[in-house]
Amino acid sequence: MSGPIITIDGPSGSGKSTISRLLADRLGYVYLDTGAMYRAVGLKAAKSGLDLDDPASLEVLLADLDLQLLPGSADTVVMMDGRDVSLEIRSAAMGMMASKVSAYGPVRAKMTALQQHMARNGEVVAEGRDTGTIVFPGARHKFYLNASAPERAKRRTAQLHELGMTANYQEILAQIEKRDHDDSARTLAPLRAAADAVWIDCTKMDIPAVLQFMLDKIREET
Ligand code: DC
Repeated sequence: MSGPIITIDGPSGSGKSTISRLLADRLGYVYLDTGAMYRAVGLKAAKSGLDLDDPASLEVLLADLDLQLLPGSADTVVMMDGRDVSLEIRSAAMGMMASKVSAYGPVRAKMTALQQHMARNGEVVAEGRDTGTIVFPGARHKFYLNASAPERAKRRTAQLHELGMTANYQEILAQIEKRDHDDSARTLAPLRAAADAVWIDCTKMDIPAVLQFMLDKIREET
């Protein structure tokens, strides 16, 4: 039997990545960053120059996609078509591209299958938008992490600055609000808390407090 899976879903900038990485570290689990996978597809789409409003174009793009996630001690290393794209996919523009391509059925079907395969042995902390609802509906522990849009924009702006990228708070806030809307309103696997997920509003919580809360919940539910 495979080990447990923990899912952490929530909107952009809610702190999912930081918390998921720390939680995986604490438990000795693998961290699965599903957003990185959609970002990689977004990057490939951006570079391809294909017409993204034509679903057939995306099928072509997916057919020769070679995507690998190498879990590391810091950020996940993302290899696409033999190239390390880990930093390139982190830009705000790639966040928007990821959101766009992620609404297409063939993209979601391929990413979902890849994610399920990557987690086949369990002991995984998966984060994204639909990990608790669609990808791992049977996960043992599920969390839904949220924070106010201004707080998330503040955190995301600081994070991009730390990566050496330019980021303007007002622009990031507008992008976050657009992504919140698009990710939640789409028909396929919309951003949604699973019915059995534990909600955490971390607007006023720091990272250690969120981590402790999750560890306590996991212990309680085990
Ligand atoms: O978590 P992130 O910002 O790296 O995600 C980028 C985009 O990818 C997000 O706006 C929507 C999409 N995404 C998704 O549709 N499903 C997931 N499980 C993860 C991300």
